[in-house]
Amino acid sequence: MKVCSVVGARPQFVKAGVVARALRDVGGTHEVMIHTGQHYDRNMSAVFFDELDLPHPKYNLGVGSATHGVQTAKMLVGLEEIFVAEQPDVVVVFGDTNSTLAAAISASKLHLPVAHVEAGLRSFNRSMPEEINRLVADTVSDLLFAPSEHARAQLLSEGHSDARVLVSGDVMFDATLLAAERARDVSDVQHRLKIEADQYFLATFHRAENTDDPARLRAIAHTLLELANVAPVVLPLHPRTRAALKRDALLERVEAGLLVCEPLGYVDILRLIMDARAVVTDSGGLQKEAFFVGVRCFVLRDETEWTELVAAGWNRLVPPGDANTMTAKILDASPWSPVPIRPYGDGNASALIAHALKDRYGSD
Ligand code: UD1
Repeated sequence: MKVCSVVGARPQFVKAGVVARALRDVGGTHEVMIHTGQHYDRNMSAVFFDELDLPHPKYNLGVGSATHGVQTAKMLVGLEEIFVAEQPDVVVVFGDTNSTLAAAISASKLHLPVAHVEAGLRSFNRSMPEEINRLVADTVSDLLFAPSEHARAQLLSEGHSDARVLVSGDVMFDATLLAAERARDVSDVQHRLKIEADQYFLATFHRAENTDDPARLRAIAHTLLELANVAPVVLPLHPRTRAALKRDALLERVEAGLLVCEPLGYVDILRLIMDARAVVTDSGGLQKEAFFVGVRCFVLRDETEWTELVAAGWNRLVPPGDANTMTAKILDASPWSPVPIRPYGDGNASALIAHALKDRYGSD
């Protein structure tokens, strides 16, 4: 079975890493890794290939940064040529980025089967580019790997046939389980940042809805500066966020008040999550990673796709608005007693996915 896996942005490297490993374990498969080049800085891309033992991409389209239209169009042109040349049995796409969208459209137009890992998630906010990407990817995919029963129910409610949906669990849970021990053993990130376990907040944010809106950006920056009066705030800075803070003349204050660092590799970020007093983020990945390692997470969004975690009390939404209200929510001293839940499988999602792909698209 020949599989073309398409990745391009940071969270996809983590997801594709565990699926690649599972495909190798299943055997009889040949995976061609295609990188769109959506993310290109070393610490946004190459570092993950090294750490996660990802197959070196056979192709890198080098699309880089551009408007959504230009970025997606360049991917469509490049991917079509590759798919025609490779003639895979199935194209695998991950998550909700522009790379997911382009690969799903390109493959389906060539009548190649598409499998979507992390299907059925919805924020119900169509102003987010990721929501459009999810809706389109799910619509044109042949096989939908849902990370939870909740995601499966959503797909069925939209009219996707049961035969196309498989609840695999979440590949990010697999990735966390695999890397957690390594993070504990080898990461010296706390030493580098001169912070102590349980004594710091870990913050990340990069979503367009937060960086491109000056009022939301300012509210988040002020909230983090307030938190820093209570405990150090570590902020690995996504390039989009750095540019936005600079644009709005906030970067200097943020760098003076917070522990700002470059984007971190997977093992270091996992280590920081594990030992944080709390995580404050708009990232879909960190919301779950905090839950996987039992750390409280405040979500800088108006809504989230990972609703189970909010309902069970693990995560709390902190919509960017008034900085005082946001800070009060995060520092709220009432006892935290989340309900134990296990919505994302048993840590074997990637094996389930690899077997399902082989069963359905393997030739023997
Ligand atoms: C993308 C995804 C988002 C995902 C995130 C993870 C879309 C629409 N969004 O958002 O779902 O959560 O990746 O990081 O696909 N840049 C660099 N170096 C890089 C990468 C980006 O400097 O290696 C800068 C560029 O200025 C670029 C900006 O970051 O314009 C944004 O990058 P882009 O790929 O558009 O989206 P992300 O915000 O990273």
